[in-house]
Amino acid sequence: MKETLVFKIDKENIDMDKIKMQGDILKNGGTVIFPTETVYGIGANALDENAVSKIYEAKGRPSDNPLIVHIARKEEVYDLACEISEKAKIVIEKFWPGPITIVLKKKDIVPYKTSGGLDTVAIRMPSHPIAMNLIKESGIPIAAPSANISGRPSPTDEESVLQEMKGRVDGIILGGDASVGLESTVLDLSGELPMILRPGGITLEDLKEVLGEVMIDPAILEKNENIKAKAPGMKYTHYAPNAHVYIVRGEEEKVIEKINALIKENDKKGIKTGVICINKHVKQYKGEIIGLGEDLKEVAFNLFKALREMDKRKVDIIYSESFENIGIGQAIMNRLTKAAGYKFIDG
Ligand code: TXA
Ligand code: MG
Repeated sequence: MKETLVFKIDKENIDMDKIKMQGDILKNGGTVIFPTETVYGIGANALDENAVSKIYEAKGRPSDNPLIVHIARKEEVYDLACEISEKAKIVIEKFWPGPITIVLKKKDIVPYKTSGGLDTVAIRMPSHPIAMNLIKESGIPIAAPSANISGRPSPTDEESVLQEMKGRVDGIILGGDASVGLESTVLDLSGELPMILRPGGITLEDLKEVLGEVMIDPAILEKNENIKAKAPGMKYTHYAPNAHVYIVRGEEEKVIEKINALIKENDKKGIKTGVICINKHVKQYKGEIIGLGEDLKEVAFNLFKALREMDKRKVDIIYSESFENIGIGQAIMNRLTKAAGYKFIDG
């Protein structure tokens, strides 16, 4: 167990002394967990292999899974990457700071430890004021994957961070809930056509509006042993709570009927069952029910928190309703499908 320096910081009224102390940890090669607008991240000096190793260690993460490098000023992209296309410049101007990561050819300064052995590097400028101030204060680019043990849902709230990571890192900054709730969109701009490797806060529709044609990595949409995911992180079972997750899909009425039938069966067998659904359906089910929200944006915000809450309630099986695969719905369905290990039930 490590000694972890934990600070609570108000994002509306940032205590720069505390930021400076955590920034010093990063400067000295340590690890610090901090809030971003998407999820909490576990940061270390992206240019220092030794520091980056500590991230992999804390997360128990396979080291072929590359990290996102976080910067506090747009210009820093030129220090880290080369061949920055017009399309990349458009994305940077339009969406940074914000929940989108771009993949570009890397410069030698970025160690292969950070890029997971790839010749490309993923870069993001987060909009969260604590993240921005911490990166600025440290004076270095910060590699930061989501602050979960590898395979678990990403933490979006203070309690989840403390529970899972205290004692595994040198510093933690608690700064309230992450506002998006799902990780950033990962957009590959290192090739001819922009390609979404991971759907997220900035949607396909948002990107098409400014870039024209945008592809989606086919590996995101289906489980197919023959398709290799271009974002290595997408190939692992991911975002999974302890319970087995099933997605129940089909017509609204049929889905409700099916889930209720399954709950009944499970009750008989003594299997503790949870349901996650849109708010208007909460009253349709009995047992451990969590309403994820009124609309897709709220569902995105609450999804990981709900999966973690189900673990706390010690349920054995979670049934999730299915969500529309457009806008932020693509990111929701991507994470849910992974959490479920591709297990669908037709209603
Ligand atoms: O919202 C986020 O992006 C959060 C916060 C903390 O910023 N970070 C995050 O990092 O989600 P992580 O490490 O959990 O996910 C990074 C994803 C993985 O799927 C990884 O495989 C992909 O980005 N990735 C990173 N570098 C890449 C590269 N050079 N080429 C392709 N995919 C890459
Ligand atoms: Mg992650």
